[in-house]
Amino acid sequence: MNNTFNYQNNELFCEGVNLSAIANKIGTPTYVYSKMGMLESYREFENAFSPLNKMVCYSVKANSNISVIKLFSDTGAGIDCNSRGELFRALKSGVNSSKIIFTGVGKTEEEIRYALENNVMMLKVESFQELETINRIANEMQLVAPIAIRLNPDVDAKTHPYISTGLAENKFGIDINEGQKAFQFATSLSNLKVVGVDMHIGSQITSPLPYVDAIKKLFSFINELSKIGISIDHCDIGGGFGIDYDEEKNIDISIFAKELLPLLQQFSGKIIFEPGRFLTANSGVLLTKVLYTKSNNKKDFVIVDSAMNDFIRPTLYNAQHEIKHLKQSDKNKVTVDLVGPVCESSDFIRKNYSLPICSQKDLLAIMSVGAYGFVMSSNYNSRRRAAEVLVDGNNFKIIRNRESFEDLINGEII
Ligand code: LLP
Repeated sequence: MNNTFNYQNNELFCEGVNLSAIANKIGTPTYVYSKMGMLESYREFENAFSPLNKMVCYSVKANSNISVIKLFSDTGAGIDCNSRGELFRALKSGVNSSKIIFTGVGKTEEEIRYALENNVMMLKVESFQELETINRIANEMQLVAPIAIRLNPDVDAKTHPYISTGLAENKFGIDINEGQKAFQFATSLSNLKVVGVDMHIGSQITSPLPYVDAIKKLFSFINELSKIGISIDHCDIGGGFGIDYDEEKNIDISIFAKELLPLLQQFSGKIIFEPGRFLTANSGVLLTKVLYTKSNNKKDFVIVDSAMNDFIRPTLYNAQHEIKHLKQSDKNKVTVDLVGPVCESSDFIRKNYSLPICSQKDLLAIMSVGAYGFVMSSNYNSRRRAAEVLVDGNNFKIIRNRESFEDLINGEII
């Protein structure tokens, strides 16, 4: 277990706060994040790559609560946004737009206009048609749009197929073999200024090797580009740095740095990183309460008050998150399916999991959910989305209220 969540006198704490106290006051399900944990992960990442001329852009899709965005931008991070909504959140959190990069394989014209109006640092472009579209919009707005081109290097990130993005069969980026044509085309368009080259090969990557392969391809591409007179200021190698879900700790980023630094230092411009999960995953838990337990001749079930609408990673990727009792238990362990109240069998938090016997009203923590947790929640089964809480030392505060039933029908018309 990482050091932000610890048992003290058999009670699970986040920093200096007893998680049971939060559950009792705010109710469940509730997401709880540690400010210290997030900042430590950021520092770990920064320090590992400190020899570089670099910019670390927090990828807000991992956890886009405006308090979390502000926490990272206050430490000096740039911000990576993937939609107008994320950009809106970043601006609302007070991020300086010159530190925002705007990504996305399918930006609408409205999103492109919004990004340009707000003077983002750059837009990352993923197709020839998008180059044309941004150029036309920039022309109408009488400005020059700073852009980078995202290349698809066709490397296998060796991660879950749903979160692998750097293979030729994936929808992302422009095929690296078409890259030179794309840069030539972009430089011929008078309302575009080409500033960078970009890649993002996938998420939850646990070995540096796929990055090494992809960066080598990117750098030889940049080399070829310079031969035809096109130079760029920065190279964005994306995010994707994984965590260890079993041990609830970050992967040792210094192992990545050891492999990547000698390569990245060959580039004379700025290196951009876009970590999301690495910065937030281990700093979040989802508090949940046992509603019922029951058994049949095949299974023991623990039915909790969090469901697939609150946390969909197990359903979607078969993700295996640790589960802990808030009151450390010395009861015998049993193998259970931990399931939610939603009316389908894909609604599970963990299957065939060995856990000290649960009783009604026991409080549990689903670990390592600070990334791709709340942000992927929904109102399925007309369930209200959970509250979010931020712990700072011995204090905690709600950073998003639990939705009300009125919130559920907000905007609906009879
Ligand atoms: N940059 C780009 C362009 C991305 O598409 C992503 C993630 C990131 C950065 C941040 O990646 P990270 O460092 O967090 O791995 N919902 C999935 C993860 C989807 C990731 C999508 N893109 C999950 O729960 O595992």
